[in-house]
Amino acid sequence: MKTSQNTVLLIGGTAGIGLEIAKQLTALDNHVIITGRNQERLDAAAASLKNVTTILSDVSKAGDVEQLVEKIKVDFPQLNIVINNAGRALVYNLTDQGQDAFANAEDEMLTNYLSIIRINQKLLPVLLAQESSAIVNVSSIVAYVPGVNLPTYAGSKAALHSYSTSLRLSLEDTAVKVFELMPPLVDTEFSKEIGGHNGIKPSVVADDLVAALANDEYEIRVGDTAKIYELFRQSPVDALNVMNASRKANIDSVQQ
Ligand SMILES: NC(=O)c1ccc[n+]([C@@H]2O[C@H](COP(=O)([O-])OP(=O)(O)OC[C@H]3O[C@@H](n4cnc5c(N)ncnc54)[C@H](OP(=O)(O)O)[C@@H]3O)[C@@H](O)[C@H]2O)c1
Repeated sequence: MKTSQNTVLLIGGTAGIGLEIAKQLTALDNHVIITGRNQERLDAAAASLKNVTTILSDVSKAGDVEQLVEKIKVDFPQLNIVINNAGRALVYNLTDQGQDAFANAEDEMLTNYLSIIRINQKLLPVLLAQESSAIVNVSSIVAYVPGVNLPTYAGSKAALHSYSTSLRLSLEDTAVKVFELMPPLVDTEFSKEIGGHNGIKPSVVADDLVAALANDEYEIRVGDTAKIYELFRQSPVDALNVMNASRKANIDSVQQ
């Protein structure tokens, strides 16, 4: 896949990993349309980048997606890359009766899974009309192995992983390539509650995405995601223990 002179729709491009992807892709002479739910953040992103268009749009809202797709069809019929980066995560424990696990799962599934299926289907005709195009779904290390403090988030990313694999197979004889970007812990606002300051920089994730696009490497396992994936293939139980090591340490300290 070429990494310059594309027209890219980046869902959730005003902060964290999305903003870094926008920085790198615009620097490589791509036009990037970034979306987000906050006009001030969109304006700030636009002020720091060249070759961008911003569109206020919440990907979890059907009406916003309808308007976004219509605008793309009229203003950017040459669109050839869609990056589904917006995500929602709730940190809680399934045993906590103060939490409504159903509502949490519904909320996360809507942003992390269902909305991606909706927007991809609506934009597929545009992508199929191009000579070369791509969909990038941003899942996570927890797509392979859950972290127990993000239980229904992990489930939504596992669902996204499964869907991304089916979508890739479904489109294998077309011009549309399907990539899945799987970051480990990354230092962003999103991960503050789960010790994100210990994570890698968002720019590392963006570097890996650009390299993977260039090499047609469809499953992009960034940093520790590659390690967990290899461990999972050897021993799913060991991988689960490693992912939940701090929790186990907490349990051990309570038991002593
Ligand atoms: N950070 C990590 O440790 C980590 C690890 C693995 C995977 N990931 C995944 O990586 C992706 C990006 O995470 P991040 O850490 O970069 O998050 P972030 O810093 O919170 O940035 C998220 C971006 O998406 C936008 N956004 C959120 N909800 C949206 C919605 N409903 N519609 C449109 N835009 C929306 C946000 O802008 P507004 O809030 O202004 O709308 C912001 O631009 C997510 O899918 C996440 O699950 C993150």
